[in-house]
Amino acid sequence: MKVNSTDVQVAQVDADAIVVGVFQNSLPTGPAAEVDNATGGVLSRLIEQKEITGKSYKLVPLMGPMGISAHQALVVGLGPADELDRGTVYRAAAAAARRLAGKPRKRVAFFLSDNWSSDLLENSIAGALTGCHGQDLYRAEKKRHPFDELVIAGVDGDTLSAGEALGDSVNLARRLVNQPASEIYPESFAGVAGEVAKQCGLEIDVWDPQRLQSERCGALLAVAQGSARTPRLVIVRYAGGKRGAAPLALVGKGVTFDSGGLSLKPSEGMADMKCDMAGAATVLAAMQAIARRKLPVNVIGLMGLVENMVSSTSYKLGDVLTARNGRTIEVLNTDAEGRLVLADVLSVANEEGAAKIIDLATLTGACVVALGTGVAGLMTNDQSWCDRVAVAARVCGERVWQLPMFPEYKEQIESGVADIKNIGEGRWGGAITAAKFLEEFVDETPWTHIDIAGPAFLDKAKPWCDAGGTGVMVRTLVEVARQWDEKK
Ligand code: BES
Ligand code: MN
Ligand code: ZN
Repeated sequence: MKVNSTDVQVAQVDADAIVVGVFQNSLPTGPAAEVDNATGGVLSRLIEQKEITGKSYKLVPLMGPMGISAHQALVVGLGPADELDRGTVYRAAAAAARRLAGKPRKRVAFFLSDNWSSDLLENSIAGALTGCHGQDLYRAEKKRHPFDELVIAGVDGDTLSAGEALGDSVNLARRLVNQPASEIYPESFAGVAGEVAKQCGLEIDVWDPQRLQSERCGALLAVAQGSARTPRLVIVRYAGGKRGAAPLALVGKGVTFDSGGLSLKPSEGMADMKCDMAGAATVLAAMQAIARRKLPVNVIGLMGLVENMVSSTSYKLGDVLTARNGRTIEVLNTDAEGRLVLADVLSVANEEGAAKIIDLATLTGACVVALGTGVAGLMTNDQSWCDRVAVAARVCGERVWQLPMFPEYKEQIESGVADIKNIGEGRWGGAITAAKFLEEFVDETPWTHIDIAGPAFLDKAKPWCDAGGTGVMVRTLVEVARQWDEKK
């Protein structure tokens, strides 16, 4: 899909459709007011009649209105004007694009506002790009048709490429999550990472099983040992910052399929477990966007890739594993595998000299119980680092909420036979006991864990996103990298 800018007035622009935004409880403003004038007051009449409310993501198509050149004007609600943020803009643009992509169109022009900051414009481009793609990978008859050309009014070249990079990366994360485990397994994921690295000039290291063995990644290897698909650890490096400056490390859980292992999941719980590599997909996608935008920061992305399966070689309950950092782990549930994978990857991130760490993982159902499906859980060993991550998420309009890490929770993962065990006592507080487990592997490095088990994957479509992978937290990670300050 080509993405271009235009300086033509909204009423004169030659397009299959134009998209204009209206705020809640407000008369038309900006380009919407121009459309209103050109059409002799169609918009203000519809607003008066409450046909157009301006409620967030509500869509009202005006077919072939007189006075404008485009065949259609799609009015999208932006919510209350004083609550407008990047999240609303991203989702409103995505909702409009998603509707218009329902059939093939040559040229669609977005005129959401005439006075937005480049940050808002960038998010409108990213949103429009994500709205054009979705659950179509395996359909003979596609439901989404990316436009031949997407036009954004009044945007400069830098903002255009930044928005495009962001949208492409969110779509990369979504596509990787949506592809089933028969296609995306550790080796093939590493292959995709290799292509991404090549395209945007990232350094890449792939640790195969032998290397993982010699690097003593005993926890990760144990999870992998029941599968015919061999594990990988992918490390990508981006050096945009000062030479030798300690990097930001992004760590992702990449369980390409989570059957639960011998602690087998029931079918309902297993059905969507191709999504269990969303953390790794988010990391790869963010690295791609950070590199394409040439941000002045050093970042390393580490992805722990395994398949958690059942076979005669599976790791077993009662096994005692030795993680890379020497800690021994008693396995009492093979379905608590994500923390085992991350244990070793977090150690590697530490040894790489990370200044700060963020890990992303579809780690626990308990986090979804605590916060619902729309909110990611934050847990940390360093409040000020967590605050910075939370601010980045808030600025992007991505929902996060912090859970406590009181020392008492640690007692729950004490083991009778090893240094720690891989589950807590019972289900209560399960998101936190998982995070307390991870904390054992980050030493003193400031670290924030983001449990995305809820928001990484939609069971049902939203107006702005098809069901399936959402690409949640890609925008937040890019924002964290933008805000990076080597002194803090
Ligand atoms: N991948 C799952 C967590 C998950 C659940 C992600 C639902 C997305 C949606 C994880 O590996 C898991 O199975 N966690 C267990 C932990 C338990 C055995 C301590 C869980 O949440 O039940
Ligand atoms: Mn599991
Ligand atoms: Zn899992």
